[in-house]
Amino acid sequence: KRRVGILISGRGSNMAALVEASRGDDCPYEVALVASDRPQAPGLIWAADAGIATFAQSPKGMAKAEYEAKIDAALRDAGVEVIALAGYMRLLSDDFVARWRGRIINIHPSLLPRYKGLDTHQRALAAGDAVAGCSVHIVTEELDGGDVLGQAEVAILPDDTPESLAGRVLIEEHRLYPKILAEFVKR
Ligand code: GAR
Repeated sequence: KRRVGILISGRGSNMAALVEASRGDDCPYEVALVASDRPQAPGLIWAADAGIATFAQSPKGMAKAEYEAKIDAALRDAGVEVIALAGYMRLLSDDFVARWRGRIINIHPSLLPRYKGLDTHQRALAAGDAVAGCSVHIVTEELDGGDVLGQAEVAILPDDTPESLAGRVLIEEHRLYPKILAEFVKR
């Protein structure tokens, strides 16, 4: 099985979906490490309870290069081959992306190329869109800009708020991400 490292910053529901899928017999990946820039991230507790190795490194008080070197070392020590970002809310440096070129993927809560960055659901509602959704894409130096590997769509309902829409999109994220990661590690 290919060894995947997952980076999170918070809740970690997509990380949990990836871990749960990894336990299926035919799954081509296993989760070797869950790492976070926030030592208090709730997802770290979930991962540790699930028996996954965890690593936390706050970037506070250090240069970005130093912080990323620590994350990089933890990933390599764990034998990680592919990195899956799952609600990791920090921009990776060009150097880090270059070191893992073509081996980092991310899930983003919009139908890319629409709504890169933050507040995706609010922006989709404000634009009067009929559909929203999520995308899994390869991470490059351009924020939310790499090749899209897969998407799932959700209808926008008349009474939707950013929160209600986020909830329905999140259900699709949990289905989409394990499927695309499995395809990605096999290619
Ligand atoms: C997810 O909706 C993910 O798509 C989004 O943050 C949420 C994390 O939830 N990611 C981004 O906005 C990346 N810029 P989770 O921690 O429960 O997986």
